Formats: sequence, C-alpha cells, structure tokens
Amino acid sequence: MTGDISLLEAEFSALSPRRAVQRALERYGDELVISFSGAEDVLLLEYAATSGHPFQVLSLDTGRLHPETYRYFQVVAERYQIRVEFAFPDAAAVEQLVRAKGLFSFYEDGHAECCAIRKVEPLRRHLAGRRAWITGQRRDQSPGTRAALAPVEPDPVFRGKHDQPVLKFSPLYQTTSAEVWAEIEALGLPYNPLHARGMVSIGCEPCTRPILPGQHERDGRWWWENVNKKECGLHRPT
Ligand code: ADX
Ligand code: SF4
Repeated sequence: MTGDISLLEAEFSALSPRRAVQRALERYGDELVISFSGAEDVLLLEYAATSGHPFQVLSLDTGRLHPETYRYFQVVAERYQIRVEFAFPDAAAVEQLVRAKGLFSFYEDGHAECCAIRKVEPLRRHLAGRRAWITGQRRDQSPGTRAALAPVEPDPVFRGKHDQPVLKFSPLYQTTSAEVWAEIEALGLPYNPLHARGMVSIGCEPCTRPILPGQHERDGRWWWENVNKKECGLHRPT
C-alpha cells in the first residue's frame, strides 16, 4: 500500500483539480463518492459533471444545517441533474443525546460528541461500502490542522469496502479560497447565499457564524473552542 500510495500521490499532485476529479472517477467509478457540504466545494461537482463520467454525491444531513443549505442542495441537484444521497444520523443516538443534554450541549462541553453522532458515524457507515471518496478540503482552510493535506491518502479515520483502507482524494488541496471563488464566478456557478452574509466556512447552523474582516475562515466555526480543536472528526481522529 505504501508504494502504491507514493505512486498515486505523485500522479495526483501533478494534476489540476479538474483533471484529478476526472482521473479519480475513471479509476474508481461507482466505488467512489464525492462528499459535498453545500458550500464552495460545489466546484468538485462542476468538475465531475464536465468529466463525462457518471458520479455520485454524498451529503451528511446532520439535521442542524441552515435552511439555505438545504435549498442549495436542491438547486445543485437540479443544475447537475443528480440525486444527492443524504446520510442521516442514527435516530436513537440523536434522541439519547438530546434527551440527556438538550439541543445545544456542544456550547457547554464541546462539539465532539454531537459531531460524532451527526456526522462521523453516518460517514463511517457510508464509506464502509466504498473504495474511495473525494473531499473539498484545502490546506488554506486551516493552517493549524490542514497544512500538510495530501492530494490523496489512505483515510486516517475511516475504513472502506470489505474493511480495506479507503482512499481520500482532496483535489483542491493546494487551491486557495481566492482561487476557488474566482473559478465559481468565472463559471457562473450557483453558491450558497450564506456566503453573501459573511459566512465563509459553512457547517451546521448553531456552529457557524459570519466572520469579520481579517479573521480566518475557521473563526466562523466552533468559535467558543480552542483553535486546534476545530475539526469535527470527518478528517482526523478526535
Ligand atoms: S468540517 O470537517 O470542518 O465540517 P469543512 O466544512 O471544512 O469540514 O468541509 C471540508 C470537506 O468536508 C467538504 O468539502 C466536504 O467534502 C466534507 N464535508 C464537510 N461537511 C460535510 C457534509 N455535511 N456533507 C458532506 N461532506 C461534508
Ligand atoms: Fe452538532 Fe455543531 Fe457538529 Fe453540527 S457542527 S454535528 S450541530 S456539534
């Protein structure tokens, strides 16, 4: 696996984000899924749609997203003529958490518990049937936690089909926020209207807020917590 990964990394680090999406689809076909958060990672769907290959899209419906994000999923689904597959949290686990701690326990004791139930476990279940997934992660999203992000790696958190490693592709790993937005504008892509209200990084409604000029995009997520804890478990073990 290590040798294979070095070769894959060399191959994908030489590709543009658009070509990387295309190549990943060529290699893994329906055993690959694109994870779409309902934010500027729409670029991945544009690249997939213009690749000439069929593609599948997964979104984690935590039950706590903004109404604008749900509507945006629909806009995107219509634009690309796709059916977004939604992964939902285990109802009993959500019930248990909310009964025990209420709807906003994360402000008191951190987001890890709620994210584990609403995001991580549903993604774990979904990826157990896949060989690869594509994320919209970028290095510049979080200098503290994503600076060493690779174009492709064996996922450090999840296992794939037949309990084999699942490959995680991040075609936008070196793309900057400014480049992403220039591309969205140049291509005339629809975007989540929350971006026009100062939200740069968009997640669940209670855990996302607009940022001020000069603040980093991650300051708009889980702002009550330490900067090094601002990962929800989707991208690294918590
Ligand atoms: S998070 O871990 O802090 O929530 P972030 O919002 O930066 O992640 O998004 C990075 C990438 O993680 C997205 O481009 C997407 O691939 C994946 N992701 C995050 N949230 C979701 C979601 N709700 N549904 C599907 N994928 C998601
Ligand atoms: Fe829960 Fe907030 Fe995590 Fe969403 S981001 S799953 S609301 S803690």
